[in-house]
Amino acid sequence: MSLRIDILTLFPRMLDGFLAESILGKAIARDLLQVQVRDLRDWCTDKHRTADDRPFGGGAGMILKPEPTIAAIEAVQSPGCQRIYLTPDGEPFGEAMAREFAAADHLVFLSGHYEGIDQRIRDSVIDREVSIGDYVLTNGTLPAAVVVDAVARFIPGVLGDEKSLTHESFTGKLLDFPQYTRPAEFRGMSVPDVLLTGNHGEIERWRQAQRIEKTRQVRPDLFQKYRHESDHQ
Ligand code: ADE
Repeated sequence: MSLRIDILTLFPRMLDGFLAESILGKAIARDLLQVQVRDLRDWCTDKHRTADDRPFGGGAGMILKPEPTIAAIEAVQSPGCQRIYLTPDGEPFGEAMAREFAAADHLVFLSGHYEGIDQRIRDSVIDREVSIGDYVLTNGTLPAAVVVDAVARFIPGVLGDEKSLTHESFTGKLLDFPQYTRPAEFRGMSVPDVLLTGNHGEIERWRQAQRIEKTRQVRPDLFQKYRHESDHQ
């Protein structure tokens, strides 16, 4: 049975290209996962299809109203599904969570908007609140897409080459090494000699050294962790 995903949003068209293209488009075509994008306004019952309103107590912006949003989640949820709200004040998203989501049967993502959502939505129909990083986007639709993309990579068969999964993943705790393809010489820039030797041991050592140096420069936090773990092996 393939993973079923529902994304509830006020901006369903933001996801059209995302779901049709590239690896995700192919995975959906091959039925390795099913993604349904739902327009929250379909659950608005008034003439103007109002999904949001001003917050009690004052403050800037508009927040999602409880009735249509809760009705939408109740309409798509299934027993045992995980209902996830994308919000900058959620739990940080990362690889461990992506793996966990990839093993689920059914995920429901709620994209919030601008200033947030009525707290009663969180209290009654949300199981988990997730942030993709410490910055605020205009709504949670792109964050939902980011999470779906990261999750899809962990579904068996989605990436043709299982090796690329281990290579690119963060589980190695170091950043990636530089890659080169043909031509060997371009605008006076040449490919490092070691990569042309065919000596796999040397190449592996060079790549590892590059990874360590890149991580040290760009991600001192990961570098410390790596050093700490190497010391205790
Ligand atoms: N909605 C707006 N900003 C977000 C973020 N950083 N993560 C998840 N959802 C969001």
